[in-house]
Amino acid sequence: MCGIVGYVGEKLATDVILEGLQKLEYRGYDSSGVAILGSGKLKFRKIAGRLSNLISSVEENPVEGTIGIGHTRWATHGAPSDVNAHPHTNEDGTIAVVHNGIIENYMTLKNELIEKGYNFESDTDTEIVAKLLDMYYEGDLLQAVFKMVKRLKGAYALGIVSSNNPDELIAVRKESPLILGVGDDELFVASDIPAILNRTRKVIYLENNDIVKLTREGYTIYNVDRNVVEREVKEILWDVEAATKEGYDHFMIKEINQQSSVIKDTLFRRLDDKGNIYLENVNIDSKYLTTINKIYIVACGTAYHAGLIGKHILEKFLNLHVIIDIASEFRYGNNFVDDKTLMIVVSQSGETADTLAALRLAKSKGARILSITNVVGSTVARESDDIFYTWAGPEIAVASTKAYTTQLTAFYMISLYFGKLKGTLGDEIYNEILSELKSLPAKVKAAIEESEKVAREIAEKIKNKRSLFYIGRGLDYYTAMEGALKLKEISYIQAEAFAAGELKHGSIALIEKDTPVIAIATQRDLYEKTVSNIKEVKARGAYTIGITRVSNKDLENVCDSVIYLDETYDIFMPLLSVISPQLLAYYAAVERGNDVDKPRNLAKSVTVE
Ligand code: F6R
Repeated sequence: MCGIVGYVGEKLATDVILEGLQKLEYRGYDSSGVAILGSGKLKFRKIAGRLSNLISSVEENPVEGTIGIGHTRWATHGAPSDVNAHPHTNEDGTIAVVHNGIIENYMTLKNELIEKGYNFESDTDTEIVAKLLDMYYEGDLLQAVFKMVKRLKGAYALGIVSSNNPDELIAVRKESPLILGVGDDELFVASDIPAILNRTRKVIYLENNDIVKLTREGYTIYNVDRNVVEREVKEILWDVEAATKEGYDHFMIKEINQQSSVIKDTLFRRLDDKGNIYLENVNIDSKYLTTINKIYIVACGTAYHAGLIGKHILEKFLNLHVIIDIASEFRYGNNFVDDKTLMIVVSQSGETADTLAALRLAKSKGARILSITNVVGSTVARESDDIFYTWAGPEIAVASTKAYTTQLTAFYMISLYFGKLKGTLGDEIYNEILSELKSLPAKVKAAIEESEKVAREIAEKIKNKRSLFYIGRGLDYYTAMEGALKLKEISYIQAEAFAAGELKHGSIALIEKDTPVIAIATQRDLYEKTVSNIKEVKARGAYTIGITRVSNKDLENVCDSVIYLDETYDIFMPLLSVISPQLLAYYAAVERGNDVDKPRNLAKSVTVE
């Protein structure tokens, strides 16, 4: 996710664009830049770090002009830096481009352009757009854009200006969001409505493959076949605050709802032409996988819970011993890490001090480091040998939701990829499992829709409880741990997860009349045993809630409420069963009047040990 703002009018473009970018910082904030057309010249400012750096730079050294494009970046290809910040340009600096999305075939295009003599200065996929435009440019920017988009695969929203056509701005939309704002004698493009809401309330939602030319005289929208298309102008009635959250009350619920699409991004953008998994930043080969004698996973909190599931899947697909440790504990035992160890480090932020300390220790002992992280160019990413970026986009709410489910997706993909590479997964089984994984984004969407109402009702019932218990067996136990953590951190209700079979060894003493117990029972082989454990707590007066597959209707005999999930393989159930615990934590926190996105005592990134 990145943020784009473009302006065509009579006002100072930098004022309008910087104001807009400030409203889009939730889409990305690792670097930013502007390209402004003034007196027939194209002038640039771009800089790493928060948007305030760009604002100071423009204040010190103003760029004047009334047409321009701006960008705030959330890195995907290339670390956050001045060079990788947008806009990107052709070599003589006459064409500038800002981009949101991912150009999937950028490596192929880059090689083609290099062969033609083009030089590249950044690591971004966006720079190929500027160079392609240069290649096709014959005096008319719009015609060059028509030719250029035919070459792109992937998702992109683009803003383009050129000093050779100084009275126009071209914008393109394919899959990544882009809107056109229609003001009095001025026009805007933006990734999202809040960027322009102070300027106009008249908006066109551009559709896939729309190409729009903006001039001071007006706008024309074309499709890729160069035909003019009409789009309806809509009036926006919300305020800026509501629009930033896209109508949701909090970032957390917005991020819960984004999960289906970010899982899809993480998965589908890593498939090659034959639909097989291709991991571009992982350079591990089959020989290496037969040389190592163990995999170590380290992480903290939610990322650790993703790691627990990862361990199970990796062991299954690779037939290899996988050890997992909480990062803050890793240093205190004899961990037997050596040069035959692959360490997988999981961290949304890539800056967690405990995780980094574990990474550095393992590295000093000769381990190879593969990181699963959401932040491109983060310290964890920089210090790793191989990287899997989760592409969940910025996670603003402190409680991690979409980062967790994309971390699980990462583990599924890595396990499948390594299993095939090592030969422990045959082609047939690999294809079968991958095909089922591809159906998961739709099932996650269904889980969100189906859990919503029940989660609200249960939240209402538990909101004044002092404590609550989650139980489960096998993979369900790990989801139970994640469910309990979510509830604690934002609702402040004491929640604990137990391995269901372990309850009777002491913890069952805590169960009394109306104690809420949430049982996760999705694993087929373990189902009957979990049902017995639910009966044990029910017999002691517990208020029981079940989360299970749609085929297990009999759970209603032992549970007061049941949340049903679509059928899938047992190993994929954690992607579905975590949804209702996330929603329950959210609604319980709302019911209690808590600051959902910024819970007390917590920070998004924990940079102290
Ligand atoms: C819980 C949560 C934390 C983080 C943990 C690790 O919702 O967000 O438990 O998962 O602090 O953070 P990262 O993944 O950034 O290393």
